[in-house]
Amino acid sequence: MSEIIRTEDLEYAYRGEDGAPVQALGGVNLTIGRGEFVAVLGHNGSGKSTLAGHFNAIRLPTGGKVYVDLMDTADPEKTYEVRKTCAMVFQNPDNQLVATVVEEDVAFALENLGVPPDEIRRRVDDALRAVGMYEFRRHAPHMLSGGQKQRIAIAGVIAMMPRCVVLDEPTAMLDPQGRREVMQVVRELNARFGITVILITHHMDEAVQASRVVVMHAGKVLMDGAPREIFTQVDALHGARLTVPQTVEVLSGLNRETGADLPIGALTVDECADVLEKYLA
Ligand SMILES: Nc1ncnc2c1ncn2[C@@H]1O[C@H](COP(=O)(O)OP(=O)(O)OP(=O)(O)O)[C@@H](O)[C@H]1O
Ligand SMILES: [Mg+2]
Repeated sequence: MSEIIRTEDLEYAYRGEDGAPVQALGGVNLTIGRGEFVAVLGHNGSGKSTLAGHFNAIRLPTGGKVYVDLMDTADPEKTYEVRKTCAMVFQNPDNQLVATVVEEDVAFALENLGVPPDEIRRRVDDALRAVGMYEFRRHAPHMLSGGQKQRIAIAGVIAMMPRCVVLDEPTAMLDPQGRREVMQVVRELNARFGITVILITHHMDEAVQASRVVVMHAGKVLMDGAPREIFTQVDALHGARLTVPQTVEVLSGLNRETGADLPIGALTVDECADVLEKYLA
């Protein structure tokens, strides 16, 4: 699989209030392949957003290197291409919407880039269909639900046709319905359109939907693997101040309390129910 993002000994230090450096990333080596769906987990302050900012050249390394589609993000001549390759979606949809009509919002960045009107029309319609918001194209964004607004923000990003989308806790401000809508769109970006997806989240039920999970801790990558491989390491996750999916919690709790030896790698409710059914029989 060819790479889309690679970090080499990436370090990043903020300048603290007293002027002293605050080390947020302490040597991150990570390669993400084209077409992957990677969830990034980590407790508050572990460096997830700082890392994500490097994938879009919002932040530049204070040590080490970041390559996006083989471009060195620290090369000022590549900033524009890097941002076009790897787009960002943030937590608060209200901060990302600029226009008073949905379709104008999705078209906004394309107009600024001087894309021809016919092509804008086509790309905006395609992007709105992709997020299931085409019928709302003439609505006012501020009248929509949080989940709908976030889908509009995602449409604005995919109208730019990036190869990679980084979403920094895109469901954090949404109700359960909105979270489901946005997660469905996120899965489709990856599965249907082949866009590389990097999803930063605090929700384990979202992370299990990825094909790879990266756990950040104190500015470093603590764990990196397939969801089942990561989520069965219950003690290590608790050590990184993370929870595990409820299904894993139930099964590992049963093992602990009853001395049973159930497989704990059930990531869906159905899988978990199957294990429990066998156990009870
Ligand atoms: N603007 C800033 N100035 C100084 N220090 C900062 C700044 N932004 C973040 N930090 C520090 O850098 C470290 C990493 O922060 P970052 O925001 O990347 O973590 P995070 O994993 O995204 O956390 P959260 O889950 O709360 O979003 C933390 O110690 C944080 O306090
Ligand atoms: Mg963050």
